[in-house]
This record gives sequence, C-alpha cells and structure tokens, in this order.
Amino acid sequence: MPQYVLAIDQGTTSTRAIVFDHAGAIVSVGQKEHEQIFPRAGWVEHNPNEITANTRYVIGQALAKADLNIGDLAAVGITNQRETAVVWDRHTGEPVCNAIVWQDTRTQAIVDQLGALGGGAERYKAKVGLPLATYFSGPKVRWILDNVEGARAKAENGDLLFGNTDTWTLWNLTGGPNGGVHVTDVTNASRTMLMDLDTLSWDADIAAEMGIPLSMLPEIRSSSENYGSGAGGVLGGVPITGILGDQQAATFGQACFDVGTAKNTYGTGNFMLLNTGTEKVASENGLLTTVCYKIGSQDAVYALEGSIAVTGSLVQWLRDNLGIIGSAAEIEGLARSVEDNGGAYFVPAFSGLFAPYWRSDARGALVGLTRFVNKGHLARAVLEATAFQTREVLDAMNADSGVALTELKVDGGMVQNELLMEFQADLLNVPVVRPKVAETTALGAAYAAGLAVGYWKGEDDLRANWAEDKRWEPKSDATERERIYRNWKKAVTKSFDWVD
Ligand code: G3P
Repeated sequence: MPQYVLAIDQGTTSTRAIVFDHAGAIVSVGQKEHEQIFPRAGWVEHNPNEITANTRYVIGQALAKADLNIGDLAAVGITNQRETAVVWDRHTGEPVCNAIVWQDTRTQAIVDQLGALGGGAERYKAKVGLPLATYFSGPKVRWILDNVEGARAKAENGDLLFGNTDTWTLWNLTGGPNGGVHVTDVTNASRTMLMDLDTLSWDADIAAEMGIPLSMLPEIRSSSENYGSGAGGVLGGVPITGILGDQQAATFGQACFDVGTAKNTYGTGNFMLLNTGTEKVASENGLLTTVCYKIGSQDAVYALEGSIAVTGSLVQWLRDNLGIIGSAAEIEGLARSVEDNGGAYFVPAFSGLFAPYWRSDARGALVGLTRFVNKGHLARAVLEATAFQTREVLDAMNADSGVALTELKVDGGMVQNELLMEFQADLLNVPVVRPKVAETTALGAAYAAGLAVGYWKGEDDLRANWAEDKRWEPKSDATERERIYRNWKKAVTKSFDWVD
C-alpha cells in the first residue's frame, strides 16, 4: 500500500517537492532555486525550462532523501506561484519566451488601454472578481502575442498553449508534446482575468477583447480529481490528483474550511485569504474575489484575498541588492540591535502597490530619514513594512466582511522571524498563531491530491492534523500603535505618482 503523498510547490523563488505522511507531517523535502531574471526596470522573468528541470530534480531528491520509490506514493499534488504566464509550442514543447512573472509590470499600457474602453480598473471586476492590473495573467499573454515575433499567427493557428506554472508543470510531467495534459484548476484560472467566477468557465468576450484565442487556454477542472499520470516519466504511473494555486493551497493546508476562517502567508509577497463559503463576496475595500477551492464535484468555495506584492522579497533585496545582510535570517538580529525604526518607514512598492491600493504608478519609498538612522533601523523598517501592509489588508477584510477577525493563522518562510510575529500581533491587536507544519502550501496541495484517491477521507481528517505551534498575544499600547500606523499611511502616499 502506498504510504505517502507528494506535493510539488512551484514557487516564485524555488521549486520544492515535499513528501507527507497521513498525519500531515513532512517526511522529506527536495528544493532548488531558479534564476530571477530582471531584463529591465519593472520586468521579472523565469526560464520555464529551468523550472521543468528543477521540478524533476527535486522530485528525485525528495524521494532519495527518505529512501522511497515512486511506488510508495499514493498521489501527487501540484501548487504554484499564480498568474505567472508561460506560452509554449504544443508540438515542440519550447516556450516562445521566458515566463512573465506575476510581479512584472510591463503590461501597464495594455491594462490602461483595456480600462479606457470603459469602466477603468473595474471593467471586468463583476465577472472575474479582479481589478484590471498588471498582476494577472491575461494581459501578460496579450503582451507575448503582441511582442514575440510570429507568436500571434501561431496562436491563431492553434499551435501555442498558455498556462500558469501549474499547467506547465502538469503538461510536462504527463508527457509534454507526447500527450501532455493541458489542464488547470479553478483557483489558478480565477487569476487570469479570463474566467467567469459564476460559471467557472472561460469568458469568450473578455478573451476576445484581450486578443487571446480560446484554443490556447487550458481546460478548467476542479482542484481535486485525477488529471492524468506521468506514465514513463519521473512519476511513473502515480496519478496527479490535486492542483491549487499556492495561496489557496495554504488556506486549505491551514484547514480554513469554515466560512470566516482566514490565513496569512508570508512568502515572496503576503497573501491573506478569508473563506466566504459558496457565496462570492464582492469587495468594496480593494480586495480580490477569488476561488478558494473546489473539491471534485462539490460546489466551489470562494475567498476574499488581500494580495501584497513585496514582503519577503524586500528582505532578499536587502541581501542581494544592498548587501546589508549575508542571509535572510540575519535580518532579525540586525533589527533587534535597535529599539525601534528610528523614524524610518520603507514602502516597498517595487511592483506598484497591490491591495488595498492597486496603484501601479507607485514605486518604492524610504522616508523619515535622519543622520540617526542606521542599518539596524533599516532592517526594522523592512520587517515592519510587512506588518503594516498586513494591517491594511486586515482592516479591509474586516470592513468587507463586517466581522472583525479574532485571531490570524500565519504560515510561510517569514513566520520563523519572532520579532516580526511579535510586532505583527501588536500592530493588528489580535493574536497571531503559527501551526506546527508551517509548510501549509505544499500540505494543502497534498491534501487536495490525497482526498481524490481516498488517502484522506474528508475535511475532518485534515482538521485533526492541524496543531498549534506558537501564539503571539498583542501587548502594545493603543496610542503608540495608532501613531506608527498613521506614519505608515503617510509614507505610503509618498510612493504614489512615480510612473509618467
Ligand atoms: O500571486 C502570487 C503568489 O501566488 C506567489 O506566491 O509564495 O511564490 O510568493 P509566492
């Protein structure tokens, strides 16, 4: 009997393969980073072939570390960085260009043109739940067809395929040009700006307006069912039976199955999702309406999402671009070397500002500087930027749902940073709770895959696996809390209007 489930997490900075057991505990991990390509200011690319090679490598690594064979796996789940667009030739499997990453802002002119047709940023919002922004996949595909030589003609001839990295990974693992399965799940499809949230199918009018042939688009399926297997490939005949966008996967892995439950993931960016059940809630406060998950033939469950583009990647920037720290983990010690931010505020609007502002004209701003400020204060301002942005999203969520969240479940790489977690609880004035398995993204994909093959029987099995690791209670003084938050809001306004 296969004892384990494997999750592939194709993330923004790395690809991981994690083997889980029935208790939801990690058995082994394979991981490999891929290159972040910045050809110009505002552009961010990945090489899709590097991602495929890394995927194969980390699967082998995870199995080898635990001395397992593919026969020990009951199922495989895929989770992924969402919105990142890959376009490739269905006959050769070759991408027509690098993947355009979700953080990339090159589609600004396309987004402006579409908005100018009427309705501005709200043009498609009622149907797709998203404001027009450079973040989403549709405009990225349009850019590729407009700018890569010969791409539009090939696309119109039915020779090109589009996918987010879930689809790219699935297609390659199931045979690529030799019978690869061209499928996505509802959660990923809901990030393209091309899917109708009610019918869960591609909207032909929006696709036509964006100039995207329907023949390029993958078939939309649920998040938990048998999509195919990699017979002959690295996965042998093990079925791939779960796909969830990474933030939806983390919500699932945190067992947020009840209406009103929420999680916040601290990764490259931060993403807070609130389960709104089978009801689709439209935001009036800058949040997205998105599909949270759909298990087989059950009804789709929706979520409100607060997306923040830059949080963990600001720590990387401090390490890679400024060299102020040697490793990401060093930031905590540096930030603890000072008592507070010394008056400095860092608004990391590197990809414009996402929720709740959706200002693509914004760029990074570091304000409040005096000669007193040193690199410790800067480290603190970097960490605090994550917490301030999260407070803005939580305020929006409380306003949209009409109910104040009483605690926040957290996960992702940055939740190991105790100083950040303390500050976060203080700033939100609610307890912040970290689960024992902080790899909830991969866990959620494993759960979706395992449910489809009966490895787990239902949500109660998954709820039983969730266990608290640590809780931070708020201890701050209300006057000070609101003073620094007011300063943050003022700093945000300094990041506006930087793009002509
Ligand atoms: O929407 C982008 C998100 O899916 C990326 O997540 O964890 O790779 O930063 P992450």
